[in-house]
Amino acid sequence: MNLTLKVWRQKHTNAAGQFVTYPATAVLEDMSFLEMLDVVNEGLIGRGEEPIAFDSDCREGICGMCSLVINGIPHGGHKGTATCQLHMRHFHDGETITIEPWRARAFPPIKDLVVDRGSFDRIIQAGGFVSVNTGGTPDGNAIPVPKPDADLAMDAAACIGCGACVAACKNASAMLFVAAKVSHLNLLPQGKVEKDRRALNMVRQMDAEGFGSCTVTGSCEAVCPKEISLSFIAKLNRDYGVAALKGG
Ligand code: SF4
Ligand code: FES
Repeated sequence: MNLTLKVWRQKHTNAAGQFVTYPATAVLEDMSFLEMLDVVNEGLIGRGEEPIAFDSDCREGICGMCSLVINGIPHGGHKGTATCQLHMRHFHDGETITIEPWRARAFPPIKDLVVDRGSFDRIIQAGGFVSVNTGGTPDGNAIPVPKPDADLAMDAAACIGCGACVAACKNASAMLFVAAKVSHLNLLPQGKVEKDRRALNMVRQMDAEGFGSCTVTGSCEAVCPKEISLSFIAKLNRDYGVAALKGG
């Protein structure tokens, strides 16, 4: 396939960005989207030009580093698929593909397609952990966890912290991410001890970082590569409401 890429280029955080057009030639359908960009970058480097900066790490849908808005949709719009898992067989010869970074006030641009998602780290630091002593591994395993709770906690724990939910939201809300991170701990006996403090602190940090409000449009769930359910947002609202009523 021969494709045309319209790529957002931005030298640094405060520079004005713009779309720059590049050809992507001899693209194989078995290439991943990021491998296609690697090949384009090899060409740019060979010509002495600055390669396109983009984030990636595991390239198998685990780490949450990849973060491209492809043709207007975070991760490209294929169900349960992160950018690194997207293959070029989904595109057609002659197609023009637009590639942009996540756009949100709480994710400031760093360079080209790379944004700073440190705000997510600070939300985790505000409460996304268990600090009570649960003993060693055998002690932890000895605590009975009802199967439905264990399953639901695992569903929430699937969140890879990529930020696509924020990029898709018209208000740049981080509620799906925060809901997943609060829920996977609040559902388990070891995490319940700090349940109230966790919900309050993580939501307060989310607000302090400048993320917008949730109006439950569902765009987050639609683009989430881990298919995190909107129902976790309802659960977070309940956990937060209860904690606030207790005077937190
Ligand atoms: S909820 Fe989904 S889209 Fe949002 S950070 Fe987690 S994995 Fe990414
Ligand atoms: S590079 Fe790790 S999830 Fe995409």
